[in-house]
Amino acid sequence: MPRDITLLWALRSPCSFKCPQCYFGELDDHKEELPEGPGVLSHIPVRDIDYAAMDAFANTLADSPVERVVLAGGEPLDWLPTLSLIKTIKESGCQVVVATNGVPLTRPGIAQRLVALGVDGVSVSLDSTDPAVNDQMRPSRSGRAGYREVLAGVRTLLNLRGSAAGPRVGIYTVVYRSRPQEITGVARLAGELGVDYYVPQPVSLPPGHKLFDELCHTLDDVPAVADQLDRLQNDPGGLVLPDADYLRQFVASIATQDSGRVADCYGGAQLFFIQPDGSLWDCPSDRRIAATAPSEQRSIVGADARTLFADRPPCTDCSHFSRDCVNMGPLVLGMPRFLARGAS
Ligand SMILES: C[S@@+](CC[C@H](N)C(=O)[O-])C[C@H]1O[C@@H](n2cnc3c(N)ncnc32)[C@H](O)[C@@H]1O
Repeated sequence: MPRDITLLWALRSPCSFKCPQCYFGELDDHKEELPEGPGVLSHIPVRDIDYAAMDAFANTLADSPVERVVLAGGEPLDWLPTLSLIKTIKESGCQVVVATNGVPLTRPGIAQRLVALGVDGVSVSLDSTDPAVNDQMRPSRSGRAGYREVLAGVRTLLNLRGSAAGPRVGIYTVVYRSRPQEITGVARLAGELGVDYYVPQPVSLPPGHKLFDELCHTLDDVPAVADQLDRLQNDPGGLVLPDADYLRQFVASIATQDSGRVADCYGGAQLFFIQPDGSLWDCPSDRRIAATAPSEQRSIVGADARTLFADRPPCTDCSHFSRDCVNMGPLVLGMPRFLARGAS
């Protein structure tokens, strides 16, 4: 059985940040009314599964077709049981990548544990080289952590890793329509920090979102973004980047809001998404989730990874292309390059 599945596991809902563009929506809005529906996310954790259910599933990963688990959320490192779960997943022979806001890496012992556990990759989110802009897009709830702490977290992890092979450390940047220059700007900063890989990704919001017009790219933004991506590709500054296909898809995705066809999509074949309530989807794209028949909805609760993925189809064409698809590319196709030893 080939071991070729990536699980993007949004482990828990809470986060110490309150990014207004977050896929999880805004906590204050949800306090008034908790959103319902398949695939709908919220930072309010009332539906999150407990550690025992997570651990039971993680214990079935050995001898399953799962190759890699990307732990995200919410913020996975604000919850200490995540470290125990990482141990179980690593012992099952899977790679583990942690997607974090970076601040927990400054807390005593967290970065050390990630190194000691043999975590393969740590992807840290940073959206701007300008502290004020970053902290506007990625504000902490307390107001006491932001750009400075994120950079301190990256430096702490890189220092502790030293010359060891892992974890590889990356920066993820969400690109907004008014700030194409962050694509090369954050790359330069990442290079100065000594980071290994770098992923700019387009902001993805549903058309009804209150920030859609302000943040989301339109056809008019294509030249500036394409120019920035070209510059990045021509001068990666020692960073491992997603491949040229990804950069082309980035531009294609911001040129339209319409659904298109994705040839040979890996969603449901080599990529699955687990939301904090345990629901299992072919991918996190809201379009694809909306197209999933109720009879096809599944959960990891009480499930065994050795049988759960037994009947998965091969990659097939999907008619729900969106910016979400672009953002999945680095997790599936990019990660082997990002995690390669001595890659940068
Ligand atoms: C939801 S966060 C969870 C992991 C962790 N707390 C973090 O901050 O990286 C995962 C990634 O999704 C990105 N993200 C959140 N909302 C997004 C959106 N609407 N469009 C594109 N990326 C988004 C974040 O910036 C981050 O890089």
